[in-house]
Amino acid sequence: MPMAEPAVLFVCLGNICRSPLAEAALRHEAAKAGLTLTVDSAGTADYHVGEPPDPRAIRTAARFGIDIANYRGRQVEAADFTRFTHIYAADHANLRNLQRLAPHSPGAELALLLDLVAGRAGEGLTDPWYGNEDGFLDTWADVTAAARGFLAKLPR
Ligand code: 4NP
Repeated sequence: MPMAEPAVLFVCLGNICRSPLAEAALRHEAAKAGLTLTVDSAGTADYHVGEPPDPRAIRTAARFGIDIANYRGRQVEAADFTRFTHIYAADHANLRNLQRLAPHSPGAELALLLDLVAGRAGEGLTDPWYGNEDGFLDTWADVTAAARGFLAKLPR
């Protein structure tokens, strides 16, 4: 049986810094590879529902030619565990919250985003929210590595 078409959800706390950048990076890498994937992002918290990404995240993506100003924050919901085949949490707190919300037999595989990067399994993605804009460049490098790691996992 062919693998169900992948549908990937990235989850952080606020859905305005890390997970929108992860969404943008995977969309970008998939487009470069000529692949169509479903990609989305969400937050475990509802603090920024309906809001655009953090201005520092928008500027960071723009440096790589990617416009994420139209993304809007949303909170994870029960249907996400069946709509998506893979859900990647930015850090351990997000992963614990997802495991608590997940139904008994979620369709989606749950893991940490950095599990996708060789040598980084088990690590949380540093939250750039409290730092300066340089931190967002580090986030971009990490989520790009994760996006490439995800595509490398796909059967071809
Ligand atoms: P994110 O970053 O989870 O990567 O989107 C944060 C966004 C907002 C807050 C914390 C982290 N906050 O406390 O509102």
